[in-house]
Amino acid sequence: MIITPAKGPLKGEIQVPGDKSITHRAVMFGSIARGTTEIRGFLKSADCLSTIGCFRSMGISIEINGDIAHVEGKGLHGLKKPEGILDCGNSGTTMRLMSGILTGQDFESRLTGDSSIQKRPMNRIIQPLTELNARISSIKGNGCAPLFIQPSRLHGGTINSRLSSAQVKSAVLLSGLYADGEVCYREPFLSRNHSELMLSSFGALVTGGTEENPECRVSPGGQMEGQLIHVPGDISSAAYFLGAALLVPGSEILIQNTGINPTRDGILKVFKSMGADISLLNEKESGGEKTADILVRYSPLRSLEIGNPIIPALIDEIPLIAVVASQAEGTTVIRDAGELRVKESDRITITAENLRRLGVKVDEMPDGMIIHGPSPLHGAVIDTAGDHRIAMSMSIAGLALPPNEEVEIKDADCVSISYPEFYQALSQLKANS
Ligand code: S3P
Repeated sequence: MIITPAKGPLKGEIQVPGDKSITHRAVMFGSIARGTTEIRGFLKSADCLSTIGCFRSMGISIEINGDIAHVEGKGLHGLKKPEGILDCGNSGTTMRLMSGILTGQDFESRLTGDSSIQKRPMNRIIQPLTELNARISSIKGNGCAPLFIQPSRLHGGTINSRLSSAQVKSAVLLSGLYADGEVCYREPFLSRNHSELMLSSFGALVTGGTEENPECRVSPGGQMEGQLIHVPGDISSAAYFLGAALLVPGSEILIQNTGINPTRDGILKVFKSMGADISLLNEKESGGEKTADILVRYSPLRSLEIGNPIIPALIDEIPLIAVVASQAEGTTVIRDAGELRVKESDRITITAENLRRLGVKVDEMPDGMIIHGPSPLHGAVIDTAGDHRIAMSMSIAGLALPPNEEVEIKDADCVSISYPEFYQALSQLKANS
């Protein structure tokens, strides 16, 4: 994919596709609830289709019509043993959350996925789930997928996590639905709380996961019933258009109906602290999830230091923040983000390498990076390492190139993981401008 610089201000309205984290959860929770769950604004991306494939192979009927999906849930104990190994594709959310559910089933299961996911750490779920008496192991003994799960009687307990990971937290809460006592989960900094919100709205006995009460608890005995779920636009996808408007002088973009859950909105806070003109219009709430139309106007930016506690609320946006920071006045420091090394790629090294190719001065640190701005950009070939967030972040850098330069995004199709129509949306915005 070739990305050329914007010829003038970017102006227009855009609706980004549904939130990936919320879509995964709606499919999974709908499958183990009783009755029909209707998912409106469903994200039809490769990762969510991996989740659907797995639950279909466990006997759940799931129909998709455009951006509406219907899941015929069979209750907590209604899944059937899958014929073969469950394929999670590239999706960490599928593998980790589904493992929590599978520890509570009375059948054995095996889970695998693509070469990237087979390198990602799974001890982070194996250990806490084992503490609840689950039988889950890495088949190769290397702490990674493929995983093997056997039936067992799950116990209540307290998990004190070292990590602030919503995938780990959710796996524990889902396993807790099947435990014989209360499960309590504590994490250092609050991670995204979509599971807590949605499990409660389905009728599970879940508390916590808020700034006032971060400790989560799940008790046995809740009855989960099918729900109507409205999936808002994904703030992680909206972020690329915020970045686009902030890099191209004169731009003004309205991003409609986007999730602004406070455990996900770190990108808005960081861009505002850098001087961005961002306002929220038409604020609403559905199923505990806040939404708004986000209006962003081009603004000259200054550098910022970013670290905990905000990192979990913007973890997937850090490659984009690095791109935007390269055009801000001053030195931006990003720390406490070592988790980026175990995402779909090592996002610290890959982001730093690609920024250097574009002409940016970047220093890599074990848990983050230092970006020296403003760095004049020039054209480059981008190695995405097959990582959707790298492909989209570096495409946005392409908009800020001098005239007649371009970036070439290798393996550009990887955007299908979370935003299949990303390049069309970007060219549409450029064409309208
Ligand atoms: C996700 C949680 C985050 C995030 C990922 C989606 C989720 O991962 O990076 O893209 O849906 O729970 P961690 O929980 O591993 O930080």
